Amino acid sequence: MSDKIVFVKDLPNVTPQIIEKLEAAGYSTVWALIVARPEEIAEKTGLPPTTIARLIENARRVLGLTFKTAKEVKNERLSVRKITTGSRELDNVLGGGVETKTITEFFGEYGSGKTQICHQLSVNVQLPPEKGGLSGKAVYIDTEGTFRWERIEAMARGVSLDPDKVMENIFYQRAYNSDHQISIVEELFSFVPKNNVKLVVIDSVTSHFRAEYPGREHLAERQQKLNAHLHQLMRLAEAYNLAVVVTNQVMARPDVFYGDPTVAVGGHVLAHTPGVRVQLRKSKGNKRIARIVDAPHLPEGEAVFVITEEGIRDPEE
Ligand code: GTP
Ligand code: MG
Repeated sequence: MSDKIVFVKDLPNVTPQIIEKLEAAGYSTVWALIVARPEEIAEKTGLPPTTIARLIENARRVLGLTFKTAKEVKNERLSVRKITTGSRELDNVLGGGVETKTITEFFGEYGSGKTQICHQLSVNVQLPPEKGGLSGKAVYIDTEGTFRWERIEAMARGVSLDPDKVMENIFYQRAYNSDHQISIVEELFSFVPKNNVKLVVIDSVTSHFRAEYPGREHLAERQQKLNAHLHQLMRLAEAYNLAVVVTNQVMARPDVFYGDPTVAVGGHVLAHTPGVRVQLRKSKGNKRIARIVDAPHLPEGEAVFVITEEGIRDPEE
């Protein structure tokens, strides 16, 4: 299996009418077809189930989806790429940076640096590979209105990139409620492959869900919707070998004395989704502490980084 993008219009033996319906419903690539449920495709395209079954079989054949050897699994894993955070220490605890093909969740209390990291990664993904980037573009989905182009400019200068070019390569959209947020992500299945997007940010992934499904009585429904959304994001990350970064504000609880007080409320959203969870804590001044949670494949330990005018950096020795 390769990362090569195959469009549905390139599938053999598919009529132009069917292709038109698929594209109109957002299934412009073969991967978008593969990762969707058949019922979902039927609902959105109005095509009969037999046609859809044939299409999916066709798509699987084209992508060569079949058993693979462990060696091939290893090679696929080797296709995972990494984006530098700007801090070597933070990169180290992440195993080299923020990975593609997965979701990375940054969670922590207000002011812990979640939004700053999202800005920094949107800049750094544009760096060439030898400088820790992917020469790719970023999609920035903002649910709280805290995106600042001024920060992008400053951070771009901080890595010696042309600020105007950097800003042109960040596709920004404000999501106004959870349905809107979900539909933006669905659109990405056709937007991403046309625009060389290598990073998708959602800051924050949880705020609309929390506001719309408040309290314990809505907890199950909220978590179910959020899980479906996260699975969609996971498919996006895998299908296009890109990094998905989400944030989640977790309130500190002064009344919790045992363990870490910030973990108690809400918890991290990725509890039931594969991915990397990073807890952020405030420290003195502009210092922040990052810790990877439940990731046996990553090195243990904490990283200290600082938020400077130019962005995320290692603390001065
Ligand atoms: P919430 O969204 O409220 O949950 O917080 P957050 O975790 O997203 O925090 P954010 O990333 O916004 O971090 C805010 C911190 O970053 C501030 O307390 C500042 O210390 C730092 N910061 C933000 N903007 C600047 C800037 O322009 N210059 C410098 N030097 N630091 C900044
Ligand atoms: Mg924020």
